[in-house]
Amino acid sequence: MTYPVDISIRPDVEAFFDPATNTISYIVKEPGSDVCAIVDSVMDIDYAAGRITYDSADRLIARVQERGLELEWILETHVHADHLSAAPYIQQKLGGKIGIGSKITVVQETFGKIFNEGTEFQRDGSQFDALFEDGDTFAIGGMNAFAMHTPGHTPACMVYVIGDAAFVGDTLFMPDGGSARADFPGGDAGQLYDSIQKVLALPDETRLFMCHDYGPNGRDIQWETTVADEKAHNIHVGGGKTREEFVKFRTERDAQLAVPSLIIPSLQVNMRAGEVPRDKDGNPMMKVPVNGL
Ligand SMILES: [Fe+2]
Repeated sequence: MTYPVDISIRPDVEAFFDPATNTISYIVKEPGSDVCAIVDSVMDIDYAAGRITYDSADRLIARVQERGLELEWILETHVHADHLSAAPYIQQKLGGKIGIGSKITVVQETFGKIFNEGTEFQRDGSQFDALFEDGDTFAIGGMNAFAMHTPGHTPACMVYVIGDAAFVGDTLFMPDGGSARADFPGGDAGQLYDSIQKVLALPDETRLFMCHDYGPNGRDIQWETTVADEKAHNIHVGGGKTREEFVKFRTERDAQLAVPSLIIPSLQVNMRAGEVPRDKDGNPMMKVPVNGL
């Protein structure tokens, strides 16, 4: 696949860090216009209380309004397992189309079974406005962007490349954070390595924007690096690590990782494009599959 890379376009990127889930959301604006996209928004949940709130999303919405921007896209890099998406809430307030990778159907199939969803839960991705295939292009105002399919962490992971800025989701972390786990259902460490190589094949000066940062070894939270920096310094894949080395390391590491604390509500909401599931009477309600994950 040859991707339509154009690093002469330098979109304006504003980052928003959510300390509750260590997620970074972005507003990406076309230079010279007021058109923008939002990448990986967060809906707040107090899982113990079953309470959903919108402080993080309201912060994004307020910023879009304050800057007088027009929102065209609400992009999801993947079905996140550690935070809930606020895409429909934002869409209701600001408009825009919700987009995700076309392999969402695989994720919906897998978790539709695990959560024993009925036939009313569509497994065809129809909850989203756009399903991207590898190499699909789309526009944010007059700015061309494309989607790159990067499976491994999940089957539906996409990296969105907008001019010289790539939103890498959970393919890569900052160089000292390495890479994301590949042990969720449908994950694959070898595929993740191959996907990371696709990202690292972008021009060296491409700006990479992370979906998560955990501030390893006590450093401050960071979210932006470059292809050159990741190639040279990424602790899991940098310096020419082989696929075999990566798969061995990743598999051993994943076996020791705890399940993300918000995986159960996150999957149920995010596989529905951010909508909270409802019971037969129409009340917002979630399930816990006992020993089912
Ligand atoms: Fe993730």
